[in-house]
Amino acid sequence: MRAIRKPSPNHLPIAGYALLARETTPSAIVRYLDQYVIGQDEAKKVLAVAVYSHYRKIATLRNEQGLIGKSNVLLVGPSGTGKTLLCDTLSRMLNVPFVTADATSLAQTKYVNEEIEAALQRLLDKADGDVANAQHGIIFIDEIDKLKATNAQSGTSSGESVQHALLKIMEGSPVKLTGNQYIDTGNILFICGGAFVGLENIMAKTHGFGFIATSADDNQNILDRLNKRVKPTDLFEFGLIPEFTGRLPVIAKLHDLSKPMLVSIMSVAKNSIYHQYIEIFRGEGVELNIGRRVFEQIAEIAMEYKTGARSLRGIFEELITPILYLIPDNPEICKVEIDSLFEDARFFKRKPACNGHGDCPP
Ligand SMILES: Nc1ncnc2c1ncn2[C@@H]1O[C@H](COP(=O)(O)OP(=O)(O)OP(=O)(O)O)[C@@H](O)[C@H]1O
Ligand SMILES: [Mg+2]
Repeated sequence: MRAIRKPSPNHLPIAGYALLARETTPSAIVRYLDQYVIGQDEAKKVLAVAVYSHYRKIATLRNEQGLIGKSNVLLVGPSGTGKTLLCDTLSRMLNVPFVTADATSLAQTKYVNEEIEAALQRLLDKADGDVANAQHGIIFIDEIDKLKATNAQSGTSSGESVQHALLKIMEGSPVKLTGNQYIDTGNILFICGGAFVGLENIMAKTHGFGFIATSADDNQNILDRLNKRVKPTDLFEFGLIPEFTGRLPVIAKLHDLSKPMLVSIMSVAKNSIYHQYIEIFRGEGVELNIGRRVFEQIAEIAMEYKTGARSLRGIFEELITPILYLIPDNPEICKVEIDSLFEDARFFKRKPACNGHGDCPP
């Protein structure tokens, strides 16, 4: 399921490159994302199809100028629910140049265009200086909701002026970089992400079943889905300018994470914090065993903090730090078991015949 770039009969060649391997289908992209990102099935599908169709269009629908009708993506969802993680994971999977820019830092400078040029320069660097390859890259602009059309403070740019600056490159224009090189942004895919705090309230005001005709024959599921969609008008009301939202035709929503999802994030996802600490303890010759109850307790606390999965690591590390403090000084410990956040951990001592896999009785 690796994306490769070397031309071969099985791949879609463009300007000497096969951008996506044949086997990198939307479902293959989703399967890859599933390993690292828990839940958010709808956003994964939307993102996977957008990326897939972007590269299919480049390969098959090039017009004379080499420009395609782009489907840039907007990811909307509460803080800490996986927007940035989705894009980071996607970038690891795809073998296309991928950079992240932060809208907040774009708005904190007077020199927005220079910041944008710097992001394009980074894209070119990621493409090893190959302009043609960089022109098919992906730019993720995070915290886009911070670009509300409000007045700028001195030394900064207004959100609206940053939106205008971004519009130009999202639309597609040649941008001059250092060394007299030009990069055309026409076929670069833009993914924007933002928490859009308050958007739910705007949607609750504007979305009624009234905005689409309903009849007894209407499929309730389809109606529900349509009504849950973020409409461009919701984004205008939030503070994005119409021209900007017009360049983001694909909108995917991420949802709040449930308790079982938070438990999975800590203990099931590839590279989860539990797996990381199991490895750290194994490096000390100690088996780490944490019961599901502990993860549920941590998830319950994290839900109260209302920062999505963000607070999980902090709470988990608070639990594990005093134990990890003890381990290196006590080589006789071969196993640690934790059954509850509110009970002491149990330590098992190594016996002379211990095989280092935690089989010793306490
Ligand atoms: N759905 C998820 N699956 C697995 N891990 C997740 C998920 N959501 C969040 N996380 C964890 O929480 C951390 C923060 O998530 P992320 O940076 O993707 O949030 P975000 O949606 O971009 O939030 P913000 O709007 O504040 O930028 C990630 O590094 C990851 O460890
Ligand atoms: Mg983020």
